[in-house]
Amino acid sequence: MIEIQPGSDVDIDEYHAMRCAVYAVDYPELPTPTRQATAAVLAVPPVHLGERLMWQAHLDGRLVAAATSYLPVDGNEHLAIAQLFVHPEFRRQGIATELLRAITPVLRERGRTSIEGRHVTEGGAGDHWTKALGFRAVHTTLTQILNFGEVDRGRWEVAVPEGYRLVRWIGAAPDDVVESYASARNAIADAPAGLVTPKWSVDRVRRVEAGLAKHGVECRTVVAVDPDGEVVGLTELEYRPLNPMRLMQGDTAVLAAHRGHGLGLAMKAAMLRWFTADRDGLREIWTNTGADNTHMVEVNLRLGFETARRSNVVSLRL
Ligand SMILES: CC(C)(COP(=O)(O)OP(=O)(O)OC[C@H]1O[C@@H](n2cnc3c(N)ncnc32)[C@H](O)[C@@H]1OP(=O)(O)O)[C@@H](O)C(=O)NCCC(=O)NCCS
Repeated sequence: MIEIQPGSDVDIDEYHAMRCAVYAVDYPELPTPTRQATAAVLAVPPVHLGERLMWQAHLDGRLVAAATSYLPVDGNEHLAIAQLFVHPEFRRQGIATELLRAITPVLRERGRTSIEGRHVTEGGAGDHWTKALGFRAVHTTLTQILNFGEVDRGRWEVAVPEGYRLVRWIGAAPDDVVESYASARNAIADAPAGLVTPKWSVDRVRRVEAGLAKHGVECRTVVAVDPDGEVVGLTELEYRPLNPMRLMQGDTAVLAAHRGHGLGLAMKAAMLRWFTADRDGLREIWTNTGADNTHMVEVNLRLGFETARRSNVVSLRL
């Protein structure tokens, strides 16, 4: 009998063992997760995705599956982002389907009418399962990884395009730029994505900053400012003390009127020089980018990222 419990109270070692087994089967192209990375995933949610709900499924006392759902806000209140995985030894017994059936009423009660799954490998088990349940692919994503031990750092010597200057901060955006920064963040809405991108406001900026600070995440931001003092582009990179070797890329965006000048490359290069100048022991950066977002993919390749994986975002009306 499957027992499904809500909550995040999970035995880290058991959860980690299941995660490693899933990675070996479903994501062999990615490095095996370290225990530290698993502990960080459990302790530090991706704050920008909203409230996190978790469930675990046990069979005869053994952890056999887990589900996580995020409830985004600021214009995405119809959406639940969900990730389910089942231990490879316990597949094709209906466990994932039962787990999804158990969590769906909770998501509906929270007003969510659509569920979105990410990182689904085409032709893999997740693809077959989501298709069997009626999900359809809405977007394709590339996961790109930069390895600090292998990269040629000369790639990051990039000049700032004429007429612009870069401003940077750790944590909270300075008061004098926060309004124009919040407004520039809406430029990410042009990036092809499965997720309906949130409406950015100063209030949302401050909420996300507070959430990151609460979880001990150091978020660094580099923005491009035009001669009028307006923020016209931005990039963010997160450092989690619980997983200190891996940086996670946040949004990168340039306002439409300022594209094509190399601002994206200049901002990201400046960020890489800044982080590596004052943090030792970094091993890699991970970023996810829309497969058809060719400019962003190309910028990442020029900076030394390599494309590790291609996957789909899938969606189902609840
Ligand atoms: C996808 C996953 C959660 C499915 O778990 P599961 O418990 O084996 O799935 P179920 O037993 O509920 O499958 C129900 C139906 O989906 C289809 N299905 C599931 N896995 C399949 C596979 N590998 N090949 C073909 N069809 C499959 C079948 O129609 C199956 O019914 P059947 O066994 O009677 O033929 C599991 O394989 C997994 O953890 N994959 C890695 C993570 C992932 O991709 N998650 C999904 C995206 S969030």
